[in-house]
Amino acid sequence: MPDLPIRPAVLASPDYPFSAVTAPVKLDQNESFEDFPAELKDLALERLRQLPWHRYTDLNAEALCEAVAQHDGWAPAGTVVTTGSNVLIALLIQLSALGGGRVLTVKPNFALYGLDARLLGAGLTEVPLRDDQSIDFEALIAALGQASGTAPHGVIYLPRPHAPTGSLSALGDVERLARASAGWLLVIDEAYHHFMDSEDARALARRHPHVVLLRTLSKAWGLAGLRIGYALTSDGVARQLRKLVPPFGVSVLQTVCTLVALEHPGYVQARVAHTLRERERLFTALQRHPHWQPLPSHANFLLVRTPDAAQAHAQLLAGGVLVRRQDSLPGLQGCLRVTVGTTEENDAFLRAAGLSGAQ
Ligand SMILES: Cc1ncc(COP(=O)(O)O)c(C=O)c1O
Repeated sequence: MPDLPIRPAVLASPDYPFSAVTAPVKLDQNESFEDFPAELKDLALERLRQLPWHRYTDLNAEALCEAVAQHDGWAPAGTVVTTGSNVLIALLIQLSALGGGRVLTVKPNFALYGLDARLLGAGLTEVPLRDDQSIDFEALIAALGQASGTAPHGVIYLPRPHAPTGSLSALGDVERLARASAGWLLVIDEAYHHFMDSEDARALARRHPHVVLLRTLSKAWGLAGLRIGYALTSDGVARQLRKLVPPFGVSVLQTVCTLVALEHPGYVQARVAHTLRERERLFTALQRHPHWQPLPSHANFLLVRTPDAAQAHAQLLAGGVLVRRQDSLPGLQGCLRVTVGTTEENDAFLRAAGLSGAQ
């Protein structure tokens, strides 16, 4: 292959670990089980028709920041909205972990933290989860001091609830980490916060200006195709982060649809209630499986340990059900991740798993 003018870190990086497969029942990407409500789509399309498309949108999505901040009880000056929290994950590394800084996280974990750290050339420290899949906060705190450089710094990534295990760390542990991590950005990824029965980390973030909460419209809001995510943080961090966000980056389509969603948040609650009921039903049914074992989850998915992930994945696919293999991740041998779907989809999953669908 001819030499390309591309950094070795990029050349050495694997592609994002995803390949598109189609199946009648799609439970592989932790999406909402239902589309954005049709009447809200109509409302958004009507508003779009009346707006000019030849004009750029706000420089920093100011109208969206106002609306998101109002909805989440946060200060607009500490709110940064962009095209998916995926984008923010890379920007926060650029903000704080380049030039001798590190990305500190746990493993296994949502793949993007480590992938982006490698792609951007930041140092990466991954602290293994304990055998029971809980986060080892002592080891994380110890790793802060071990980072190289006279003044160790960088970004800590902590999904809460954790992905892909669905486990939930105690806020007290996160608070200890926040106290120990001055000089670092502590990013708490709350992509799945709607599905946990615990206080979220907003009060904690108010106490610690170096804490950043990441949230997304891709999960409970049912808008994964729209691509909107945001950060809630201190005014000081937000001001610097905004410099890295592409100017005028959020499109008129994204702006209008997000505003319509935020003006009509009522539909989300009923969906979350459905997901929690169905998650419990799936969990209970899977506990009766002779060979598979579900992990308790605080998110809209379940991690299921099987004797052989390849075989289990193929068996489910043969039954028309697509789930995501997680068995290449350290400590997750045999594991599959299944999104909680509609009642019918979950029945199809249970049938394909060899369990009776009607519970
Ligand atoms: C923990 C976690 N963070 C972030 C994301 C990505 O969110 P977005 O769609 O806003 O880029 C996901 C998507 O699956 C996720 O699991």
